[in-house]
Amino acid sequence: MARITLRQLLDHAAENDYGLPAYNINNMEQGLAIMEAADELDAPVIIQASRGARAYANDIMLTRLIDALVEIYPHIPVCMHQDHGNSPATCATAIQYGFTSVMMDGSLMADGKSPASYEYNVDVTRQVVDMAHACGVSVEGELGVLGSLETGMGEKEDGHGFEGKLDHSQLLTDPDQAVDFVERTQVDALAIAMGTSHGAYKFSRKPDGAVLAMNVIEDIHRRLPNTHLVMHGSSSVPQDLQDIINQYGGQMPQTWGVPVEEIQRGIKHGVRKINIDTDNRMAITSAIRKVFAEKPGEFDPRAYLKPAKEAMKAVCKQRFVEFGAAGHASTIRAVHTSMIAKRYASGELDPKITGAVGAAAE
Ligand code: G3H
Ligand code: 13P
Ligand code: ZN
Repeated sequence: MARITLRQLLDHAAENDYGLPAYNINNMEQGLAIMEAADELDAPVIIQASRGARAYANDIMLTRLIDALVEIYPHIPVCMHQDHGNSPATCATAIQYGFTSVMMDGSLMADGKSPASYEYNVDVTRQVVDMAHACGVSVEGELGVLGSLETGMGEKEDGHGFEGKLDHSQLLTDPDQAVDFVERTQVDALAIAMGTSHGAYKFSRKPDGAVLAMNVIEDIHRRLPNTHLVMHGSSSVPQDLQDIINQYGGQMPQTWGVPVEEIQRGIKHGVRKINIDTDNRMAITSAIRKVFAEKPGEFDPRAYLKPAKEAMKAVCKQRFVEFGAAGHASTIRAVHTSMIAKRYASGELDPKITGAVGAAAE
């Protein structure tokens, strides 16, 4: 099996009513954890790298790592996705290094901090779509700015996210604007804002509809029933991992993430890609802290990186099962990007908006 495009994976997920976790990586252990989990469950894979991850790992290292993972697990389709591309240049270099999918996050300006205008977002996203589709590569766009409905703040810890405070109109994707955005940009998948944010500190209590607006997803899905929706900031921040980290010397204040049952509700309403990084970071950190605390004399990195990989693998397996992705890898045959490019050129893969107008009018 070769690398596969996001579009092909999400079309398959939509046809078969499941969701796909998209896991962030920046190193070998994370790559192996995801693939071992997928192999044991026969799950298709989306691996994504942020700009920071690409800089950390080095593009050449990263691309060879993905080549190796695909070679080791030839029966698992792997989509390699650029997470939060900030400009056409970032997306172009991702494609140059073999990514089969890119996110152009035009909700923010190229600095990754300042909220952008709607017209800027449409324009920059459309530029990336024209370039990527010519290469057969998929594009995810984002409409609405990710951030907390509780505080109005974005996340600061990852270097990508607005600074300062926003109001609800900017933090919630407008369903009518979503129809216009998909029509004008021709994106393959749409990331939406409805109260999730990156990192561990998403909610100060178990979220309800006031701070996690799942109804926005349902509204958008009614208007755009054929568009694949993406939930960012969708780690669940498991209590047991918070507890292990704190038990072994960590200092994480009590916090709440996105409950898995809310994601499952989203999957029933068009969510096909669910971004998860924090849960895996916490799994890795909890395992490493435990080894350091229990075996202070240990200094072989494998003694803590192996349990770290196993802990991340357990989280990955759990999400593959919870989102319904297990069992599907062997039913997918990857189509090469050169063939996908021809399908885009023929108009076969254009977004189907016509049904949406009727749905919106209902
Ligand atoms: O976009 C958010 C992901 O958690 C990636 O984070 O930019 O620190 O690699 P990062
Ligand atoms: P979390 O921080 O909730 O894992 O979200 C990751 C993400 O959205 C990456 O784009
Ligand atoms: Zn994100």
